[in-house]
Amino acid sequence: MNIVVIGPGALGLLFAGRLAAGGQAVTLLDHNQQRAASLKNCIHLHDGSGTSSIPLSISADPASLNAAKLILVCVKSHQVQNALATILPYIQPTTVVIGLQNGIAHVPLFQAQTGLFALGVTAMGATLLEPGHVRHGGNGPTFIGFTNATHGHTLADVAEIFSSCQLPAEVENDILSRLWRKLLINCGINGLSVIYDCPNGMLLTIPEARERLILLVSEAIAVAKAMGIEVGDDPLAQTLEVCQATAANISSMLQDVRARRATEIHAINGAVCKLAITKNIATPENDLLVQEVLAVEKPRIQ
Ligand code: PAF
Repeated sequence: MNIVVIGPGALGLLFAGRLAAGGQAVTLLDHNQQRAASLKNCIHLHDGSGTSSIPLSISADPASLNAAKLILVCVKSHQVQNALATILPYIQPTTVVIGLQNGIAHVPLFQAQTGLFALGVTAMGATLLEPGHVRHGGNGPTFIGFTNATHGHTLADVAEIFSSCQLPAEVENDILSRLWRKLLINCGINGLSVIYDCPNGMLLTIPEARERLILLVSEAIAVAKAMGIEVGDDPLAQTLEVCQATAANISSMLQDVRARRATEIHAINGAVCKLAITKNIATPENDLLVQEVLAVEKPRIQ
């Protein structure tokens, strides 16, 4: 299949690399012409078994979108609006576009589109080592689902392609529920790991951090429920479990801060706070965390 992956961050490199290695015709689209040229049509996947260098097309020319049957939008949440503006003039009515972002701030942008726009949630672990180099951490499932009516179109073939390329994937009918379940975990862990400047697991051992984590997730659950989102049996227990299971991980948000990149705090806790206002729900712990993370992030951004 002709696939364009937008964004050479950790997730973009991992998906582009695995799909290209699995025999798909992949172009990695980077808005930065100089960086696209410097990558020399090759990306490098590092994992437990070593490093594989995978040849594929890397371009800064949006005309490569012309032939795409599938477009994966792998930019950060705050870059989605620009990415969609780039895509729209090129796509055909049968082109499937899937957004793979953390948080929920991008959801309305995808829902506002007519056409085959879908969202994804992935548990694949990826860390950007340097431009063109990604470390593949844990393997986890990717769920993909349309957000609007699609008149009989299905994502089953996309899930099959992903799965055949070592990206285990399933079609999900309630993708919003999946997004929120991940959001609740990120709400509890990511911002706090920045404030305490620690790996995920340490949040459970610092009494104040653990208490705050519980408050953050509880507030976000209240908002999800008010929105009619299905959050599963015990999302708080799940967050504590993930925190334990990823004890040694440096969260993606702390990685962003350390690399002097903008964080996704607006797309995660910030988005919950915004929705809470529309439902008259108080979210003081999330409000505070957003301010604290911005105070750490702002002076460091390049
Ligand atoms: O964003 C992240 O870092 C991850 O989603 C998680 C689960 C918090 C583990 O580090």
